[in-house]
Amino acid sequence: MAMNIPEIVKQMTLEEKAGLCSGYDFWHTKGLEHLGVPQMMLSDGPHGLRKQDQTGDHLGINDSIKAVCFPAGCATASSFDRALVERMGKALGNECQAEDVGVLLGPAVNIKRSPLCGRNFEYYSEDPYVASEMAAGFIKGVQSQNVGVSIKHFYANNQEHRRMSSSSVMDKRTAREIYLAAFETAVREEKPWTVMCAYNRINDVYAAENRNALTDILRGEWGFDGFVVSDWGAVNDRVADLEAGMDLEMPCSFGERDAEIVKAVRCGRLSMETLDTAVTRILTIVDRYVKGRNPNAVFDRDADHELAREIAAQCMVLLKNEDHVLPLDKTKKVAFLGAFAESPRYQGGGSSHINSYKVESALEMAKDYPVIYAKGYETSDDVIRGELIAEAVQAAKEAETAVIFAGLPDIFESEGYDREHMRLPDCQNALIEAVAQANPNTVVVLHGGSPVEMPWIHEVKGVLEAYLCGQAVGGATVQILYGNVNPSGHLAETFPLKLEDNPSYLSYQGEGDRVEYREGVFVGYRYYTTKKMPVLFPFGHGLSYTTFAISDLRTDKASYSQEETVTVSVDVTNTGDRTGKEVVQLYMLPPTGSDAVLRPVQELCGFEKVELQPGETKTVTFQLNRRTFAYFSNQKHDWVVETGNYTLAAGNSSAALTTQKAIAMQGEKILPTEITMDTTIGDVLRIDGAAKLLEPYAAAFGLSSGSSDENAMGESTADMMEAMMKYMPIRGLLSFGGGEVTAKQCKTLVKELNNLLESFSQQMK
Ligand code: BGC
Repeated sequence: MAMNIPEIVKQMTLEEKAGLCSGYDFWHTKGLEHLGVPQMMLSDGPHGLRKQDQTGDHLGINDSIKAVCFPAGCATASSFDRALVERMGKALGNECQAEDVGVLLGPAVNIKRSPLCGRNFEYYSEDPYVASEMAAGFIKGVQSQNVGVSIKHFYANNQEHRRMSSSSVMDKRTAREIYLAAFETAVREEKPWTVMCAYNRINDVYAAENRNALTDILRGEWGFDGFVVSDWGAVNDRVADLEAGMDLEMPCSFGERDAEIVKAVRCGRLSMETLDTAVTRILTIVDRYVKGRNPNAVFDRDADHELAREIAAQCMVLLKNEDHVLPLDKTKKVAFLGAFAESPRYQGGGSSHINSYKVESALEMAKDYPVIYAKGYETSDDVIRGELIAEAVQAAKEAETAVIFAGLPDIFESEGYDREHMRLPDCQNALIEAVAQANPNTVVVLHGGSPVEMPWIHEVKGVLEAYLCGQAVGGATVQILYGNVNPSGHLAETFPLKLEDNPSYLSYQGEGDRVEYREGVFVGYRYYTTKKMPVLFPFGHGLSYTTFAISDLRTDKASYSQEETVTVSVDVTNTGDRTGKEVVQLYMLPPTGSDAVLRPVQELCGFEKVELQPGETKTVTFQLNRRTFAYFSNQKHDWVVETGNYTLAAGNSSAALTTQKAIAMQGEKILPTEITMDTTIGDVLRIDGAAKLLEPYAAAFGLSSGSSDENAMGESTADMMEAMMKYMPIRGLLSFGGGEVTAKQCKTLVKELNNLLESFSQQMK
């Protein structure tokens, strides 16, 4: 039965209201039995159910129920498949129903600013469009089961180093275009039941106290209507939080902060209305949970394990495949080398850590094929063991192909701290080098949540990035290696050649608690492509056992006004001899030469995963709105589309755009916000009609046709003068006007130009 929320709020005492705004324990909201309000359980998330029955913790230390570990965010993003992630979400939602969990704590969508972030394995991408699209699919799936999500960690939580106190310092444009954008589409379109605010500060204000983020943007602009929950222990000033729009504190504060709320209301620091708003929001979600309960749901671990394997096989990214070293010949002897072949690394550490009810290894899943095995290295330390390498080399020599299972051991990446470098353990690099010497057909399978440097890349023929692909990783890897499944994952992040190439390298982790995001919007491929830098593997890259051609990009018109939808079509053909899936990627290339704003040379604005039989062609269609072309203007505090020619280009990687078309976009002229003595003549001339006002002064500069003879002066001198004039401030009329212009005239001119600007802005409204 539905709760009568206004009536319940009316009947609650001040103490009960304050109490409802914090957890009952580590995982539950408080219940109010006499008012018919039950407790509601929240559980991690994001790639499995970490339901703890006994002692709760947020670091994955204590046990949780046996569950199914699905591929982590680093992997699922690489599928570029919204429907696949939705299916995973649906399965997780059903598991929550079976276990009476009301809210699953995920998806985690923070941007991968640096390969070093300890939690990158949980996050989706360096690109906000991918992150938000995948999150939207996940939310749709979970919430279709009447279970809520908590999209997290809102926002700018991009490192683990000092994560509970650091301040992410950035300008508005960077926040809007990159760090907020990762949440925006998912929130606007899929209406998550809850949002989890981050631990860190944003421009010095704790995320939990950030009214601009939690109220103005999240609710005001994006229409969020659920409750905001603190990350576990993210509360600093409980009263400031409530005023900012942070409703539920988790976990419980043992009554301490509830008392602060009561006191604040009593002394008038906090209004009852604000408290009632938070209480109402929490009750609304508890009510949704009650109404959506499905007591018949069954947690079928075997079925979900199968699904986890199916998903995993769609996520892995084939990075290199020289001489068709893959797929493996099922009849020939293959050496599986490396401890991860027997005991894979398939998930990360911390709050997302799942107590997997079973884990399958590649070795076990390849038992029907002629496979020999040698361990090659230990995972408990980074010691190069000559005898283990010698054994592996011997096995490699006996085999047609050597497949080395390498990657990051648990201690190398986890929630709670960042990676120290971007390298694999030395013992694994040594193994790869030695095996590659012994067998020309060497393939490396990588397990890990983030890019690694590959000093041996030219010595091996194949690299398969298996990421952290969940408990069924073994079966999925074997399916890909032997060609039972055609690889179709693409990178949702760039693999730089070395860590120092990463745009955040100089300012990552910051100085003390202050982390300036100095690279601004130039995150990931936005930086590498703009700088035309070589990388190890570009964003969007991923191979298949077949080949594809992406061609004939067309648009429904040649020119548009910014309010119109741009419809783009592009053809994709399977040009090889196997059925396969391709990720068609669409990028927007803004006009060049604008000095109003610095933009990356390309931004992803659409993707679609398409399955094709050999020889088959399909057409993919994208609909783009003005946001695709816009940038966020720090001056205007709004999204702006600049008038100009934009190029739309498609391909199967950010570095392989094979078809493109330019369109004309009628947006805004970028005008100065105010004219002063310092405004340059070039900027003034952007205003229609300004040239006329400047005309009387042209003679002073020798620019009017009457006073100077262009032919006599020579065309190039005239051009030079005009170019120099562009950067001359109005006050320059006094110094360089040959004494013909007075200060009074300059002031009048400024006034007239401002009037003109004002009337122009009025017309634009
Ligand atoms: C993590 C969250 C997690 C919470 C509960 C926090 O430390 O940052 O992602 O949901 O703990 O375990």
